[in-house]
Amino acid sequence: MSSQLIDHVQQYLGEDFPIKLISQGAEALVFETSKHPFNPSLNKEYIIKYRPFKEYRHSQIDKTITKKRTVGECRCLVKLNTMDEINVPQLIAADPYNGFIWQSKIGQTLANGTFSNLKNFLWMNNNDENAYKKEVEEVLYSVGRQIGILHINHYVHGDLTSSNIVLEQDKSSNEWTPFLIDFGLSGYSTLVEDKGVDLYVLERAILSTHSLYAEKYNEWLLEGYKQSYSNQDELKQVLKRFEEVRLRGRKRSMLG
Ligand SMILES: Nc1ncnc2c1ncn2[C@@H]1O[C@H](COP(=O)(O)OP(=O)(O)O)[C@@H](O)[C@H]1O
Ligand SMILES: [Mg+2]
Repeated sequence: MSSQLIDHVQQYLGEDFPIKLISQGAEALVFETSKHPFNPSLNKEYIIKYRPFKEYRHSQIDKTITKKRTVGECRCLVKLNTMDEINVPQLIAADPYNGFIWQSKIGQTLANGTFSNLKNFLWMNNNDENAYKKEVEEVLYSVGRQIGILHINHYVHGDLTSSNIVLEQDKSSNEWTPFLIDFGLSGYSTLVEDKGVDLYVLERAILSTHSLYAEKYNEWLLEGYKQSYSNQDELKQVLKRFEEVRLRGRKRSMLG
């Protein structure tokens, strides 16, 4: 199936369009390419995200969902790119009717050879010697800040896992800057419920993949979040709701 999908993408782009598959998730295939969709003289690195047709869905419903998620992701990328303090990839091009998005490529290779998402960064430091070091604390703090700034602008991510947070290191200061990616389930929301759920999803993701140090990691994330949330009344409400979402989650897991 996957080779058929890759063939389809290759045909769509043209036989000589250079692509390399880097991820195949439940919803999308992601390729990297050094070719800009319109301008061959721009040879940077780009990402092509393709949401294929889902056999298990009715075809008209599938088309509507694919278009909605693709347009939604584009809209978020454009909107968030206009906000100074939020780091997201740039939207390059899109064909929502066929499920394609081109965006700038974020990230680099970590010292252990893996891709620089938050998950791999924490795995690389997953030992007593490194887990509590300043570098890790600062990364988690600035990730928390990013989420706080996203929420204060009334955007929610909808799928905040440690793979959807990508780090880039500044060559001179060595400081890491977090970028948020994967906005297919994101959107504008003023609801404290949606913000509380975002925080809960990330907390669970950290707990399940980095359980040994999760408590400290989540504390640092929340610290950054609180510091960036300039509206104190709203912050209180979000944190209260976050606690309620947690309790609901615990009850659900007790009931099985
Ligand atoms: N703009 C980007 N820059 C670098 N890597 C990306 C980018 N977008 C996606 N990726 C890579 O592809 C993976 C899957 O993409 P993502 O947008 O998260 O889709 P999904 O998780 O829905 O399959 C990401 O975890 C990341 O490794
Ligand atoms: Mg993802």
